[in-house]
Amino acid sequence: MHIVAISGSPRPGSVSSQILNVAGNLLGSTQHFTIYEALLELPHFSPDLDTEPADLAVMALRILLREADGVIICTPEYAFSMPSVLKNALEWIVSSGEMNEMPVLSISTSPLPPGGEYAHTELRMVLKALGARSANENMLCIGATRKKISPSGGILDAAITEKIREEVIALTKLMHNTNSEHDTIATH
Ligand SMILES: Cc1cc2nc3c(=O)[nH]c(=O)nc-3n(C[C@H](O)[C@H](O)[C@H](O)COP(=O)(O)O)c2cc1C
Repeated sequence: MHIVAISGSPRPGSVSSQILNVAGNLLGSTQHFTIYEALLELPHFSPDLDTEPADLAVMALRILLREADGVIICTPEYAFSMPSVLKNALEWIVSSGEMNEMPVLSISTSPLPPGGEYAHTELRMVLKALGARSANENMLCIGATRKKISPSGGILDAAITEKIREEVIALTKLMHNTNSEHDTIATH
């Protein structure tokens, strides 16, 4: 099984990327885990550019997702929204359909207590539009990250690690069960 992780923040040292690393480390050794790190290489989406052959960076993203059995997205919140680079990446896969039926675990982070819930709600709306399947019925929004995550990415709060572990297990279960009842993305 292959899981692709996408961080909504391309920033070096991003907390969202650090959380993805934690999630990756919680996966069993039989799971192949790849963090996609090329959000900034994608051109701005425009339907007029969505032609064949696709731009090389777009093609690389689509091929990576085509070969994935599951996806984990962890995003910060900017101006009550998901970062535009993440939305841009998701717009590029509307027409090509790689996320259709894809089991997805979504996580949001913020230094503020709500944990990026607006961005997360928006992300889930977009995932719904893409036809993805949600591994987590309730949104995992990790807030107050400065207190809970060390600058080197270590999780200082055991309850967070436990929550991520539960959600990773839910994702792998969904990847193995194509008829799971969690077929739709809840956005509230
Ligand atoms: C321009 C800008 C807008 C932001 N807006 C929000 C916001 O609306 N809500 C929020 O919780 N955090 C907001 N933040 C804080 C980000 O969530 C925070 O910088 C986050 O940790 C970045 O994630 P990263 O470490 O993965 O890059 C904002 C930060 C910036 C730079």
